[in-house]
Amino acid sequence: MEAVISMRKAIIMKIIFIIAGLFLIYQLIINFMIDQDYLKLRKLNFQPETIEKIKAYNMINEVLEKNKYSKTLEESLLTNQFHKPNFDLYYEIPFVDNAAFIPNINKLVTRGYNKTQIILIFKYLNNKEITRLLNHNLISDIEKYIVFDYFLVGNLERYLNYQKKTNHSYHQVITQVNIGLDNPFYTNIKEIKDPHRLTVLVNKYHHLPNTFIPDDLSPVNDNLVVKTIQLRTEVKKAFEKMSNEAQTNGLNLKGTSGFRSYDEQKQLYNYYVSQDGKELADHYSARAGHSEHQTGLAIDVVGPDEQLDNFEKTEEFKWLLKHHHEYGFIIRYPKDKEYITGYQYEPWHLRYVGVSIASYIKENNLTFDEYYIQKLDKK
Ligand code: DAL
Ligand code: ZN
Repeated sequence: MEAVISMRKAIIMKIIFIIAGLFLIYQLIINFMIDQDYLKLRKLNFQPETIEKIKAYNMINEVLEKNKYSKTLEESLLTNQFHKPNFDLYYEIPFVDNAAFIPNINKLVTRGYNKTQIILIFKYLNNKEITRLLNHNLISDIEKYIVFDYFLVGNLERYLNYQKKTNHSYHQVITQVNIGLDNPFYTNIKEIKDPHRLTVLVNKYHHLPNTFIPDDLSPVNDNLVVKTIQLRTEVKKAFEKMSNEAQTNGLNLKGTSGFRSYDEQKQLYNYYVSQDGKELADHYSARAGHSEHQTGLAIDVVGPDEQLDNFEKTEEFKWLLKHHHEYGFIIRYPKDKEYITGYQYEPWHLRYVGVSIASYIKENNLTFDEYYIQKLDKK
């Protein structure tokens, strides 16, 4: 009887040993597999501390599936800013060493921006700009704005308001708001800091210093003018070249007004106001400090009858229309652009900007105000 009992005991012991053995083997296999994951993640370049966190979030398989390292993911984990639903985004957005970077990703998601939008936001805006963008509610068409490199996040509210009032395209909205056109002419006026620049923008929102006189004015050849005028040297040369070329084509293209000082412009504008009233005068005459003539870069031209008002009908104008850019000039106040320039069509008012810019402006049918905002205005 005793022998039977001890045999049973032995069998039970054996079974227990076998179960324990199997369990041990199972544990070894699991550990081995886990270690494999650990090794794979190490191989991808994740730090041990990061791997701990990946494990804690149960994300091993997801990370292994990506089969690549992500510094953004690593930082989000190490700084405890990891949000599981944003996992894919951490992989898509290249890391930027900025304290606002990962919070910005998370906040954009919370604000309701979708994955594509967030990727574009990080492509086009820096973290300072993104932080400012986050002051706004969700802008459902944000990607339509930010692709333009003259988009200014500081103007976002104005873009949105202007968009509601007009039916312009996004690039027109951004350009026009940056010009200042969402505010009336002669409001929010900025003082021009670099009046000597050949590409200086002078308009109803930009004011030249009262005392500014260019330091390289020189008189245009007497044969090519109606009365003595002065221009900056480079402009004078360009005009003389153009006028001489017109002459070889049997045309008589002459300058009638060049540099005008602040005081001369003031007198002229006041005279027009006394004649036509302020509202009308503002359509064709610049207030003092707002005239391109004060820069020495602008010239009014006439044909043989020496009449500005008739210039559009002359052969000289026909020729000029084709060739002005070849000498670096633009027609500064074009037809149908008064809503941008603030001045009625002036076929006679030429502004020197250099050949390459003049050609671009002509080809793209732009005003200088638009060109300046799109190409020269630095963020
Ligand atoms: N006529 C142009 C706009 C000026 O006065 O400068
Ligand atoms: Zn003029």
